[in-house]
Amino acid sequence: MRNQKKSHPGFATRAIHTGQEADRETGAVTVPIYATSTYLQEGLGQNKGYEYARVSNPTRTRLETNLAALEGGVASRVFASGMAAINAICTMYKSGDHVVAGHNLYGGVPRLFNQVLAGYGIEFTYVDTSDAKRVDRAIRKATRMVYVETPTNPLMALSDIRAISQICRRKGVDLVVDNTFMSPYFQQPIALGADMVVHSTTKFLNGHSDGLGGVVVCTRPEQAEQLGFVQKAAGAILSPFECWLVLRGVKTLAVRMEQHDRSGRMVAAFLDKHKKVKKVFYPGLPGHPQHALAKKQMTGFGAMISFETGSLSNARKMLRKVRVCSLGESLGGVETLISHPATMTHAALGEQGRKAIGITDGMVRISVGIENVEDILADLDQALAAI
Ligand SMILES: Cc1ncc(COP(=O)(O)O)c(C=O)c1O
Repeated sequence: MRNQKKSHPGFATRAIHTGQEADRETGAVTVPIYATSTYLQEGLGQNKGYEYARVSNPTRTRLETNLAALEGGVASRVFASGMAAINAICTMYKSGDHVVAGHNLYGGVPRLFNQVLAGYGIEFTYVDTSDAKRVDRAIRKATRMVYVETPTNPLMALSDIRAISQICRRKGVDLVVDNTFMSPYFQQPIALGADMVVHSTTKFLNGHSDGLGGVVVCTRPEQAEQLGFVQKAAGAILSPFECWLVLRGVKTLAVRMEQHDRSGRMVAAFLDKHKKVKKVFYPGLPGHPQHALAKKQMTGFGAMISFETGSLSNARKMLRKVRVCSLGESLGGVETLISHPATMTHAALGEQGRKAIGITDGMVRISVGIENVEDILADLDQALAAI
């Protein structure tokens, strides 16, 4: 259970009410979906604060207010996907700027950095951010941003957000944290010193695997202003309907995360004892090398677990057999999703790239859903029997 300051509404209350106030005109208790591309103007230069839907939309405003409150930021800006949100952050930097990034990120991020943004003159250095000293050493005069995912996808390595934020502060560099795996329910990077937080809302924030989205939560008004300009100028905004899906999803974030965490711990313990499983990567296990840091900077361990089956053929055999667990990319939904990083989420890294960071062909990743946990365990047990 997370701590809660007395004077401040608790997390679940903010999730359900902040930005989600009843509609002023009708009293509707859910935020209306403003399916409109434009707004009536009363005269030249006279409007109600909304002019054109790429620039702003009331459903979007509500979601941006809500997500900023959940992460403890001053404002947030939502985009068409997590990648669009990450790309929007990068447009705040320019040719000649340097970025230090984690060496084990969701595969789509280095793909964007290396195959798109490097062509515009932004330089990237990848380091193991689980060692804050390496981040310190990699920062140069031209460094503008340190980009960290914690825990990482799929190796579940942690980075010490507070330690890295102190380095960034000292050197005048922005720290951006991808908080997708933990959600603001279990990890609050801004309270630990991050300058911006990014999410693929596609995952736990939405929680129902029915919409793509991304958000950047800001700590300074000028960041929100700049990102608002990027929404208007580049146009990769989140549609009103998908904003509404996230607004609906976050209402149950607290209860979902509690159950994801309870079941996650049970599945990790089960896999850890299973004779067909060679290794389990889960920060909640006492054997995880950063278990102490996990207890310090997170208020739960979450639902993301990776484990080693020993070979591609073993992974293939077990994944063919799963029935309750759905084989597929993505994570954070109510349904248990199981995937094979080497051929799915991290295929873009190439064999050498994966080998360099320790992603093997036998590795399987599971996003534990909120079905009855005994059904998930029985499914994994029968699937592992195929190895
Ligand atoms: C940690 C993390 N960050 C960002 C992304 C990208 O998000 P999206 O798929 O919504 O573009 C993903 C996608 O899997 C992810 O796992």
